[in-house]
Amino acid sequence: MSLSDKYAPTTLNGIIGNGQARSRLAAFGIEVLEGKKVRPLILCGVCGIGKTSAAHALAYSHGLELVELNASDYRDSESLNQKVLPLAKTRGLFNKKCLIVFDEVDELSSKFDSGAESIIRKFITESRHPIIFIANDYWNRKISFLRDSAEKVDFKRPEPVEVIALLERVAKAEGKEVKKEIISEIVKRSNGDVRAALNDLEMMFGADPELINFLGMRDRKSEIFRVLDRIFLSSNFDIARNSTLSSDIELDMLINWIGQNIPSRYLSTQSISEAYEQLSRASMFNEVASRKSYYGYWRYSNILLSSGVSLANNGSPVNSTTPYAFPATIRHLSKTKKDRSAINEIALKLTAYLHANRRTVIGSHLPIMALIINLALEKYGPETVFSFMEQKYQLEKSEVQIISAYSWA
Ligand SMILES: Nc1ncnc2c1ncn2[C@@H]1O[C@H](COP(=O)(O)OP(=O)(O)OP(=O)(O)O)[C@@H](O)[C@H]1O
Ligand SMILES: [Mg+2]
Repeated sequence: MSLSDKYAPTTLNGIIGNGQARSRLAAFGIEVLEGKKVRPLILCGVCGIGKTSAAHALAYSHGLELVELNASDYRDSESLNQKVLPLAKTRGLFNKKCLIVFDEVDELSSKFDSGAESIIRKFITESRHPIIFIANDYWNRKISFLRDSAEKVDFKRPEPVEVIALLERVAKAEGKEVKKEIISEIVKRSNGDVRAALNDLEMMFGADPELINFLGMRDRKSEIFRVLDRIFLSSNFDIARNSTLSSDIELDMLINWIGQNIPSRYLSTQSISEAYEQLSRASMFNEVASRKSYYGYWRYSNILLSSGVSLANNGSPVNSTTPYAFPATIRHLSKTKKDRSAINEIALKLTAYLHANRRTVIGSHLPIMALIINLALEKYGPETVFSFMEQKYQLEKSEVQIISAYSWA
């Protein structure tokens, strides 16, 4: 069991930071116990800061039976109708009240079909139980219907001092001694993500303090670089393996990145050849896993591409000065296919509003829109801009971001 599971808070007071959100949840809990019909809440915020834990803690501490719904339960209207809707009227075990949690409701939005929205609305109206939605991206258009039916509760990254105190408490409870500097370094690098901080703490138990440098900064964009650093620089079996286990980057993607960067990191031909040997085997297991739908093979693939590639260099010096290169295959694909099709789609949507054809929208309107969006972002902030663009042009946040990065080619 990982430290973050072992020390997951069981009461609202165990959640660090987020005072406002905690009091809102506590008040919500009291209203529920008083038998009032409560308006659903939607907890939003970045990953690893306690949204799911808070919903769980609320259920435990108020004696509510937790019913947690996720991807497979609401991927389409049929599963919603069959699995979710009946819950509205159900009675909990021993007649207990339930707390219905729709976790990561925005993640699943791409699979929502049009019927899903009305079923969830119906569920909200009919439910005899309190409901909590959880989302990373409140502004995702597919869940915009929740904006008027649920109250927004923001979750924020806790302050570094709070995370430091938590890590110290956990280290002590585990009977491990970890230097103060190491703990503050972990916290600095975790950038408010408490789950990441706990994972990194676990990795540093009993490890050489020097290894802290391989933890890297936690930032979604640099996640891949962090993993690559640990593989190429650590020459330590566990650090390399854990880096891939604790990240959510897909194996295919990792194989591409590692493959592209082996020759620029390792110096001897022998290390390079051995690293490719390991990577090719990882790739083979990965391929067989998907072909046979036997995902047990991912285990081998994972270890070969991380620890295998890491140990291939046998601890010899590594070139760490040049930046990592973007995999050529992905670069090519994304430049030609993805970018173009995203822009095409956006332009197509806009044709109706701008009374111009797709080509004119791309050539004349989008570059100007990009300028205006960027100015507006500075002036009014993202929430106002995204919600304006959504109301006016039915554009999602991600689409607005694509436009804002667009310029005359
Ligand atoms: N505010 C917090 N206080 C105490 N522990 C926390 C807090 N936030 C996260 N954790 C720790 O990190 C783990 C993961 O947190 P949680 O699942 O609640 O994050 P989340 O906000 O739901 O993230 P995601 O968006 O990735 O689902 C918890 O099990 C807990 O150990
Ligand atoms: Mg969560």
